Amino acid sequence: MKNKALLTTVFAFFILLGVGIGQELGWFSSAHQNQAAKAKLGVLQFVSHPSLDEIYQGIQAGLEEAGYGEEKLDIQFLNGQADQSKLTLMSQELIEGGNQVLLGIATPAVQSLANASKDLPIIMGAVSDPVGARLVENPEQPGGLVTGVSDQNPAAKQVALIRSLTPRVKKIGVLYSSGEDNSKSQVSEFQAAAAAAGLEVVEQAVPSTNELNQAVGVLATKVDAIWVPIDNTIASAFSTVVAANQTAKLPLYPSATAMVEAGGLASVVVDQFELGRATGKMAARVLQGEDPGDIPVEFFSQGKPVLNMQVAKGLGIVIPKSIQKEAQLVGTEQ
Ligand code: TRP
Repeated sequence: MKNKALLTTVFAFFILLGVGIGQELGWFSSAHQNQAAKAKLGVLQFVSHPSLDEIYQGIQAGLEEAGYGEEKLDIQFLNGQADQSKLTLMSQELIEGGNQVLLGIATPAVQSLANASKDLPIIMGAVSDPVGARLVENPEQPGGLVTGVSDQNPAAKQVALIRSLTPRVKKIGVLYSSGEDNSKSQVSEFQAAAAAAGLEVVEQAVPSTNELNQAVGVLATKVDAIWVPIDNTIASAFSTVVAANQTAKLPLYPSATAMVEAGGLASVVVDQFELGRATGKMAARVLQGEDPGDIPVEFFSQGKPVLNMQVAKGLGIVIPKSIQKEAQLVGTEQ
């Protein structure tokens, strides 16, 4: 009798010890189970500039809303800093990193992922011209491994804004980078809209940010205002554009809020956070197993006016109250 009790105690002791060790090793804990079930997403951002950073924040918010918060998803995030060889190496790194889905932020990043990946699904983040960039043939039915979200520049509305804020502008300079496929189609759309409004366009393409200062100096002597598309190279060095315009003091019409904040006059822009949010949600669908080839590309083309009141004042431009009421105002009026 006594022996049996002892035996039971010893037995119970070992069971408890076993459970304890098991817990230590994570055999029963839910944390361990979650970790095993975590999805993996590889993200490649082309370069750092405020708009792309905001898009990435939107992407994380969209993923979280779709059930992929930090506890469910591991994100391997890399930034190519506008360096082509870095982008190529990083694409390979993301493929080898065991990610189920790849997501690129900005056209050159997505192109690099598409060149490197043979079988992983790829989500386009903020690709202005998916067809021109040769990422999809038919945005309605992508069919392959690539789908995503596109930001369409509201060029006609931008031209209308230029006409109403600065009616005396007759010649407009178009400043963009020659290396970005996303800028090419925007430039031709803007040209068509400008021509329809009777504006003359002078194009100035730059190979990299190194030539920006000189290019703006030369362009400023030929035109009455400068327009910039949704271009990563110009966006990443917009302060150079603003500085190079100090002598001529021309109205600058860029295509993103961050560039208006940094010294542009005004624009009509696509909401960057919402763009990212939609991209995150689409990535979540593919992580859940949907075929990217079956998901149509989503287009963001709704633009909202944004005005820098301080720059307007500096240029002596009086902005009609009706336009002020509709627009997002940045820069404090002094
Ligand atoms: N649409 C750009 C591309 O296709 C990326 C981009 C998104 C961007 N928002 C921007 C570039 C704002 C400059 C400014 O690559």
